[in-house]
Amino acid sequence: MNAVSSTQSAVQSGSRWTIADAMKIRTDDPTTTMPVIDYAFPVIDSDVWQWDTWLLRDIHGKTVTFKGWYVMFALVADRAATGDTTEGWHSRNNYSYIGYYYSRTGNGADWKFGGRVIKEGANSRSWEWSGCAVMRENSANTVDLFYTSVNDTPSESVPSYTTGRILADATGVWFEGFDVCTDMFQADGVNYANIVEDEYWDFRDPHIFRNPDDNQIYALFEGNVPGMRGDFTIGSDEMGLVPPATTVPAGAQYGAAAIGIARLTSDATKGDFSEWEMLPALVTALGVNDQTERPHVVFQDGLTYLFTISHHSTFTGNSTGPDGVYGFVSRNGIFGPYAPLNGSGLVLGNPSSAPYETYSHFVDPAGYVQSFIDTLPQPGSADPQDPTTYRIGGTLAPTVKIVLEGERTYLTEVHAYGQVYAQGVWPTSSAFDKRS
Ligand code: FRU
Repeated sequence: MNAVSSTQSAVQSGSRWTIADAMKIRTDDPTTTMPVIDYAFPVIDSDVWQWDTWLLRDIHGKTVTFKGWYVMFALVADRAATGDTTEGWHSRNNYSYIGYYYSRTGNGADWKFGGRVIKEGANSRSWEWSGCAVMRENSANTVDLFYTSVNDTPSESVPSYTTGRILADATGVWFEGFDVCTDMFQADGVNYANIVEDEYWDFRDPHIFRNPDDNQIYALFEGNVPGMRGDFTIGSDEMGLVPPATTVPAGAQYGAAAIGIARLTSDATKGDFSEWEMLPALVTALGVNDQTERPHVVFQDGLTYLFTISHHSTFTGNSTGPDGVYGFVSRNGIFGPYAPLNGSGLVLGNPSSAPYETYSHFVDPAGYVQSFIDTLPQPGSADPQDPTTYRIGGTLAPTVKIVLEGERTYLTEVHAYGQVYAQGVWPTSSAFDKRS
């Protein structure tokens, strides 16, 4: 990893999450560890499994209420379809669609499930996976929904978008449109691995934002380093500043995660998000980890914070870390160079006593972090991963707050289950003024 230095010019070649960085990961550090969740946690809606979740926001990243309603989108699967069982939960990706919820208060306890967002049949592929929902600038109620269109056979994973309108009255929130889905871009095999290079390739989770430095619209996404799977040479750049006599660990070369970025070249004001310029990855984790999922960005105090979620099971070689959210910080804007937050990259991980209790953490611009409950060990259980005693989540975890202070982050507050906060309201008066 390059050191963060304002004297270095913007680097186009990307930054590295190195083996030496990952050596600094410490599980159970109280400043970077999720609280242990109560086994008796509440469930928002027991008809559906809920996992990856994102809030309605503007293009700058601010969470917004719409006509006084908090609105969240999530990957959901009907429990009646999967089976309301451990096996059903673990098969949810094969039933996944984007659902929405609304609440007057943002209190976790009063979310109401509103149903499906994208019209049935509009997504031409098998499943809808993660993305983001953005209020169109200068529009009273247009929402651009970015998501991953995933196909079973042949195996495909394509960042895509669809547009609709949000409506609300005193009783609730509903949507119109979302009946035409369009591909954004595909893994090109040059900047990002495609399926020919890597049968386990990841290419998904578009996160759209307007970059404050150049006012352009970009998409972040999960990708892999281009090249044939396992064929990478792990050299001193990937090793980083390791202790003497450290050798390349066996299997490290199977870690090839990349935080991807593309620049919009079509006209967003016309709702056209179909043309993008693929750019080299912002951060690569060659030799360290094979997955950096749901990348997203927070701009604060002139610094650019890049967050991504990753799994214990996708670390490679001798590197290891908990399921949780990892992050990197740049002093020179979105293109870096980036340094790993807290020296290691770990921002919030699961406690070792409940190693899979939460996942898919999303950090909002005020530092509130949402995640879902995955599997929660029975208190006192000898084996936290025993499927006969753990409790399946499929609902939101307690929201926590982190403070971002330069290159460090601190867990400082624990809030209610599924609690959300907004930093803005919609429609803004300017959106109404410019409405055509
Ligand atoms: C993260 C994730 C995303 C993907 C979705 C599929 O939890 O793996 O990368 O879009 O879940 O369920």
